[in-house]
Amino acid sequence: MKLSDYEKAMLDGAHGPAKQKAMDLLVRYGNALGAERLVETRNVAGTIGATTPFMRKFADEKGGLDAVFSEFNLDSAEVVPIPPVEVYSSHLQQGIDPEHAAQQGVGEEVVRIFRKGDAYSAGLGVQLLNTCTPYQVGNLPARGEHCAWMESSAVIYINAVLGARSNAEGRESTGAAMLTGRIPYWGYHIESERRGTHLVELDMPIESMSDWGMLGYYVGDAVQDKVPVITGTGLAPSTLKLKHFGAAAASSGGVEMYHIPGFTPEAPTLEAAFGGNRPREVFRFGPKERQSVYENLNATARDPEVDFVMLGCPHYSIEQIWEVCRLLQGKRVHENTQLWIFTPRATKQIADQNGYTKIITDAGGYLMSDTCSALGRVIPKGTKVAAVDSAKQVHYLPAIMGIQAWFGSTADCIEAALTGRWKGGLR
Ligand code: F3S
Repeated sequence: MKLSDYEKAMLDGAHGPAKQKAMDLLVRYGNALGAERLVETRNVAGTIGATTPFMRKFADEKGGLDAVFSEFNLDSAEVVPIPPVEVYSSHLQQGIDPEHAAQQGVGEEVVRIFRKGDAYSAGLGVQLLNTCTPYQVGNLPARGEHCAWMESSAVIYINAVLGARSNAEGRESTGAAMLTGRIPYWGYHIESERRGTHLVELDMPIESMSDWGMLGYYVGDAVQDKVPVITGTGLAPSTLKLKHFGAAAASSGGVEMYHIPGFTPEAPTLEAAFGGNRPREVFRFGPKERQSVYENLNATARDPEVDFVMLGCPHYSIEQIWEVCRLLQGKRVHENTQLWIFTPRATKQIADQNGYTKIITDAGGYLMSDTCSALGRVIPKGTKVAAVDSAKQVHYLPAIMGIQAWFGSTADCIEAALTGRWKGGLR
């Protein structure tokens, strides 16, 4: 791999042992990918600190969080002192919400370690956005900006909706990028790799949020890790709908980039979306496909009694919280059901100030941050049947937690929270 003088100096250890380990990792990783060089990045979103029970034990035994960073972010068995990050870096979602530890069944010791991890990250200069949607709370890369982001739903969003450039990176490569401002130049950093490969034509209007989630789930399953181009969507989709669409497509397949000609920034026309190439395959999405996706997403659900409603995958925006509050205001969550809504930390502050947190808690629900049920494996004790409004969450939650889960609209989910029963359906 070709390296600049500065990169060579980092690799030779001239800028300290941590950067030497980081460069060593990036070179090994880049070589394995066949990357010819590294690219400069000034925007990293990743994970550091002891986020799992195994890492907490590791930190205790090896003497702290530098050991965790060395081993799990730099792939180095030798513990090296970790300096402040070189470039703007945001922390992604974590394993718990320290403000709702009791509800999530998390002990004081874990909260203490969590807070230590937060302080460690802040000390390195990592911004504690603690969300899977950094783009909703201030980390909004520009078109063409080379980024190193983890979290599949965020990567597909910044690639397709913003026109920024990132592959779905891992904990190791983002850790190394934080310290060096470099990431291998391959995949979606390269213009020609971003062109469409498969065409998806719509035979029906796609309007609601759950329709966009189901369409995303269909598209991911159909094209796997390729670049779909979707036509026939009608009205301009909102950013919230694209957030749901992308999260679903990245779950059922491994989609990291897509185009909607006329709407997404790198596809002013269908021709531009494909960059002059012909689609390798054409798919059609209509009522039959929609029905089949709906049945697939509800495959684990049998019992109508719902004991847990989980909203906020990807983390809810303030607009979505506001909409939930309009459905919830003045009502009470059913005594046998729990309602948990997840949002970025920063959005929760706005919700507090706008009175939305109070509306939710007065109704008997909780507005949580920093984590989610599938990622943190946090659900109310004894949950057997959940209801969610996210195709991504219903893809993961039943398998991870061994429960049933219904998928439907946000209104279906709120109704289930208020009545304790699932009455949703495909409308
Ligand atoms: Fe975010 Fe959890 Fe969904 S991390 S995208 S809310 S699975």
